[in-house]
Amino acid sequence: MSSLDVKPLTRIGILLSGRGSNFVAIAESIRAGQLRGVEIAVVISNVAEAPGLEAAARIGLPTAVFVSKGRQRAEHDAQMIACLREYNVELVCLAGYMRLLSPEFVGAFRNRILNIHPSLLPAFPGLDAQEQAFNYGAKAAGCTVHFVDEELDHGAIVVQRAIPVLETDDARTLAARILAEEHVAYSEAIAQVASEEYEIRGRRYVRRMLPG
Ligand code: GAR
Repeated sequence: MSSLDVKPLTRIGILLSGRGSNFVAIAESIRAGQLRGVEIAVVISNVAEAPGLEAAARIGLPTAVFVSKGRQRAEHDAQMIACLREYNVELVCLAGYMRLLSPEFVGAFRNRILNIHPSLLPAFPGLDAQEQAFNYGAKAAGCTVHFVDEELDHGAIVVQRAIPVLETDDARTLAARILAEEHVAYSEAIAQVASEEYEIRGRRYVRRMLPG
């Protein structure tokens, strides 16, 4: 690519199962010109009634549904892989996708899948992470954007944002304040990963310094 060429937009595919507020925050950052260099190619859900799908349709983005309930994981994931390939997706972003991915899926997009999780990993993996942190009595909470590998909530960490747990918090107010951080963290992580100015050393995600 010569210096006059513009790097093509990185095509991202969103996977979601529910509300979709992280997806909407990403779409809004792109629209506002804050998240540059990427475009959303397709929004896929494993739940037909997911409100996030409606939001995607309202924005005018392509959507696809592959209902996962009662289906064998690898077979379901093969359909999603085919769809993502059809849309030339280069980076998969899990935004409240509440189903484990098969090793085949992880292998098909090795180091090209991001997930957001509402805790400071490795603390509180799994479901209801905000409530886990609250009930544990943690004094700090937050969110993590990480690469996805074969283990649950485990891959190299790209971005974390921390907040204090307030004495006035309950599990609901804490979750709401974490969600506000998620909406900032995900766009930041996508921008970094799409720029490709990083390397993964062991478990460590390290940004390469740009010259100048
Ligand atoms: C978010 O809090 C996200 O971090 C969490 O689900 C919620 C989805 O909200 N994901 C996980 O817990 C994954 N382990 P959203 O649908 O409004 O983006």
